[in-house]
Amino acid sequence: MKSMIKDPSLAAAGLLKIEWAKNHMPVLNLFSERYSKEKPFAGSHINICLHIEAKTACLALALREMGAEVALAGCNPLSTQDDVAAALAERGVNVFGIHGADDDLYFECIDRSLGNNPDLIIDDGGDLVHLLHTEKRALMDRIIGGCEETTTGLNRLRAMASKNELCFPMIAVNDADCKHLFDNRYGTGQSAWTALMSSTNLLVAGSTVVIAGYGWVGRGLALRAKALGARVIVTEIDEVKALEAIMDGHDTMSMNEAAALGDFFITATGNCDVLRKDHFEVMKNGAVLSNAGHFDVEINKEDLKMMTSEIMPARENIEAYCLKDGRKIYLMGEGRLVNLACGMGHPVEIMDMSFAVQVGSLLYLKEKGKELEPVVNPVPREVDKKIAALKLDSLGKSIDVLTEKQEKYWFNR
Ligand code: NAD
Ligand code: ADE
Repeated sequence: MKSMIKDPSLAAAGLLKIEWAKNHMPVLNLFSERYSKEKPFAGSHINICLHIEAKTACLALALREMGAEVALAGCNPLSTQDDVAAALAERGVNVFGIHGADDDLYFECIDRSLGNNPDLIIDDGGDLVHLLHTEKRALMDRIIGGCEETTTGLNRLRAMASKNELCFPMIAVNDADCKHLFDNRYGTGQSAWTALMSSTNLLVAGSTVVIAGYGWVGRGLALRAKALGARVIVTEIDEVKALEAIMDGHDTMSMNEAAALGDFFITATGNCDVLRKDHFEVMKNGAVLSNAGHFDVEINKEDLKMMTSEIMPARENIEAYCLKDGRKIYLMGEGRLVNLACGMGHPVEIMDMSFAVQVGSLLYLKEKGKELEPVVNPVPREVDKKIAALKLDSLGKSIDVLTEKQEKYWFNR
């Protein structure tokens, strides 16, 4: 196999990023050290479709250390960091991703990565699984199973499983506590705001921030916006989540009302058309629009284009949509995942946990995958507990242990 990357000469910069990340991923490092002699993945071909950046590189290298032959494709054309891709290719991992790829090249990269004829896969968002169930069906017989990283990917898998269309077991990595409680909430809470603030260089304190969706990602975005001094408005379609937002100290209203008030908008729903024509029509001049959900469907770019006389570059990763009525609306990262298209993705320590869950789940699949049904399976509770324990350990933190009396009382309630 031959990697498809932008420029091999970028490797040195990529290696520095990988080294930095590795030095801050104690749990993943413990896994790779623990299994480097035993090599539980010897003979396994693992295909990974994830954001090609430094933390993902550490995961790919850890799996290789544990014996796997690894191929990595990007799961989003704007999140690929070409220097990291070059560094990984130099280290002998087959890498398929080029920053800014158009749709055809993006899918060609995933397609070519499957040349490693995988028996285990990691997907982020569902494009790899989709390809395997359509154009690449011939490869499915060898696949023991796979892991899905994110909420949107799980929604797609559950829709397939409900129609009996899923052909191999998938593990719901996103639903592990050590994943969504930290990654979706605190990971996106920090990384989206880091990307927004560094890309715009604008002040958040005193501004009005509209967050669409109060799931795990929305909660983190709202929490951090509030801490930065913003007035936070949450929009929801679920009454309970809307109430939760109110009791967390935010305001809640429909997007029709919020659209006219926001300075910054962040969508985090996994749904489409969350911001659309009616909303653009009443937005303030200078409103900044961004999306933290998996696909670039949350902000309806077609509607925005229809109202626009000219699209101009405003700053790196920001386009100004100059509306026919004279207002300007700014769109971050083409409406793709703002924290990855305009930033570096989640903090390293967060991905340490998410990727440790991936490794724990792959080990489970390697051992038990052939006994699992072709449905969406949970991450075993022991994997979650083990990773939390290792993380606490790495932070030098201890917890209480039940006394004999407490144990009896607790388990006989
Ligand atoms: P979730 O299911 O916990 O929350 C989604 C929320 O959106 C729900 O509360 C739902 O009621 C609400 N919603 C749906 N349609 C809506 C609409 N039209 N208007 C307002 N609210 C609406 O999901 P999550 O874990 O918070 O993930 C949200 C999205 O973010 C997914 O696409 C997921 O894949 C993605 N994600 C991104 C990152 C990142 O790094 N940017 C990290 C994790 C997850
Ligand atoms: N870095 C690598 N994968 C990521 C993900 N799914 N979310 C945020 N940052 C990441």
